[in-house]
Amino acid sequence: MRIITFGTFDVFHIGHVNILERAKELGAYLIVGVSSDALNISKKGRPPIYSQADRMKIVDSLHCVDKVFLEESLELKGEYIKKFNADVLVMGNDWEGKFDCFSSLCRVKYFPRTEGISTTQVINMVRELA
Ligand code: CTP
Repeated sequence: MRIITFGTFDVFHIGHVNILERAKELGAYLIVGVSSDALNISKKGRPPIYSQADRMKIVDSLHCVDKVFLEESLELKGEYIKKFNADVLVMGNDWEGKFDCFSSLCRVKYFPRTEGISTTQVINMVRELA
């Protein structure tokens, strides 16, 4: 089974590790789309703290991850699923239901988020300490 998931994975934290490890438990090969800096700027109005090259390198260094690619457009998820021959799409349950449209291409699974942490929260905590 080939598993695919997507995310920004900025300021890498335990919630990211947990979802990637859980995704890998579903199959033998885990593919991760890391969203580009440009995509984040257009989505959130600011660049990520870590560059796309660094975010990709961090995700690629995990032993549960087999392949990393740059997600350049949110509209291309279906194309990426086909290109990488994915059997299962995994997303955190903050996206519950939003990717059901891909269930004709592959299974779609939502995992519960790790509670009490997010990139935004870490950035805000560090800001308060500064
Ligand atoms: N994720 C998770 N648990 C968390 C945070 C993230 O399971 N506590 C999952 C998300 O559901 C997503 C993946 O990790 O499937 C990548 O999430 P990302 O948006 O990069 O991280 P966040 O911490 O949610 O970032 P932000 O605060 O900028 O939204």
